[in-house]
Amino acid sequence: MKNKIDVLQDKIKKANEGGGAARIQSQHKKGKLTARERIHFLLDENSFEEIGMMVTHRSVDFGMEREKYLGDGVVTGYGNINGRLVYVFSQDFTVFGGSLSETHAEKICKIMDMAMKNGAPLIGLNDSGGARIQEGVVSLGGYADIFYRNVQASGVIPQLSAIMGPCAGGAVYSPAITDFILMVENTSYMFVTGPNVVKTVTHEEVSSEELGGASTHATKSGVTHFACSNELDAINHVKRLLSYMPQNCEEIPLQLPYTLTDESRLSLNGIMPENSNQPYDVRSIISEVADTDSFLEVHKDYAENIVVGFIRLAGRSIGIVANQPAYLAGVLDNHASTKAARFVRFCDCFNIPLLVFEDVPGFLPGTDQEWNGIITNGAKLLYAFSEATVPRITVITRKAYGGAYDVMNSKHIGADLNYAWPTAEIAVMGAKGAAEIIFKKEITSAEHPEEKWLEKEKLYSDIFANPYRAAERGFVDEVIEPAQTRSKLIKAFKMLENKVVNRPRKKHGNIPL
Ligand code: COA
Repeated sequence: MKNKIDVLQDKIKKANEGGGAARIQSQHKKGKLTARERIHFLLDENSFEEIGMMVTHRSVDFGMEREKYLGDGVVTGYGNINGRLVYVFSQDFTVFGGSLSETHAEKICKIMDMAMKNGAPLIGLNDSGGARIQEGVVSLGGYADIFYRNVQASGVIPQLSAIMGPCAGGAVYSPAITDFILMVENTSYMFVTGPNVVKTVTHEEVSSEELGGASTHATKSGVTHFACSNELDAINHVKRLLSYMPQNCEEIPLQLPYTLTDESRLSLNGIMPENSNQPYDVRSIISEVADTDSFLEVHKDYAENIVVGFIRLAGRSIGIVANQPAYLAGVLDNHASTKAARFVRFCDCFNIPLLVFEDVPGFLPGTDQEWNGIITNGAKLLYAFSEATVPRITVITRKAYGGAYDVMNSKHIGADLNYAWPTAEIAVMGAKGAAEIIFKKEITSAEHPEEKWLEKEKLYSDIFANPYRAAERGFVDEVIEPAQTRSKLIKAFKMLENKVVNRPRKKHGNIPL
């Protein structure tokens, strides 16, 4: 018996060594943790249970039968984060560069299937040179097996991808299907084709970092939701993100205990600038309304004219979508629309109520916007809000103009409650532009056109630059003092907690893509 236990211990030791000390050292030199170290920092102490430690590849080409490592380049299993079950795979770059073989893929698929059956989040820690080149098509098949499961799991369990090293070629499509991507500055990159292929095909000279590093994807492409300063930062972000989510689509997110006190926030009365064309940072409203330090912004550096993220409100997890007047006056454009639409759909998948802060002058005009499909992209956001069945509340803080008024979770598309601050302006367009169009003849034929224009602008503004016309119709349910916003929202979300909506039977909708 002792011998047999020794054999087992020896195998466990070997598996824990991954690709060996030299490769581990090289991994550390690059500022990267190993696959097992990452799991150690991610999961609650001693909670990790490994599955498939003894798996090896089956390849016999290119002398591969002589080079085998227990685990085959990926550590898989389950454990807890803050006491809640999660499934994890962590690719081991020290074994064949973390490349994906047939068996490596089978291990990932096995825990994906378990995560689905048992209704718990899946976290992928990606660090891989892509398809195992020595294995050819079976490795490509392995990717497709994972993609297929990612799609089946979408909307059933939360799926998070942390990119801790290379993620290139076909490998990018698994993270792309998951709900959130986190990348690490300077040590991770994602691209479909690398700098060499780019140079050959388009003659562009570009570094890996510039082509597909964390900053690039956080700002330019929007592929990643978070650009983290190092791996521990990324791991902490994964933990925090999960805290706002339920385990699966059948559950509601964990509500933290909260005792109500005086929930008025007087500072909100002073946030809005005197001049309605002046910017302010909508994050200051979000932070005041949210429980202290509970705001986690998602996609912070991409399409900054819209802010999305999670807060807690009296302990309840809430998804925020807010126009950002401090950037491009808060207009809706292609990127902002797709960013917000995807976030809304995530929240709706996982029973996270939605809170919208609206201050939008309209859609961004221009050939760039039109030619890049603002019609289709704006429709995504409209569609996403309209199909969402979670509790939905809008607070119109200032401008709600044109089609953007409809899109930003208006009552007409199913919002449960719409509040407006006294500073709200709800109209087809701004008073200046409106006056120019409807009083054109009067203005141009006037002795002093500028004065006439101002007079007509004031007239339009007096009628529409307020929330009361909308409130008369019931499009706004209540005009509230800003200081009372938090208190109103706490009560309203509690009132809506058992909301049920029945949709017509269908296979699935056809969101404009
Ligand atoms: N298949 C098999 N082995 C791979 C691999 C792959 N796709 N990618 C990397 N490896 C192996 C390397 O042979 C090397 O093995 P060794 O430790 O025995 O020497 C080890 O992983 C580390 O790779 P290395 O190239 O030394 O690391 P690096 O940090 O300098 O570069 C990459 C990393 C990912 C940029 C580079 O390995 C690469 O370009 N890999 C191929 C990417 C690719 O085209 N994949 C297939 C398409 S999806």
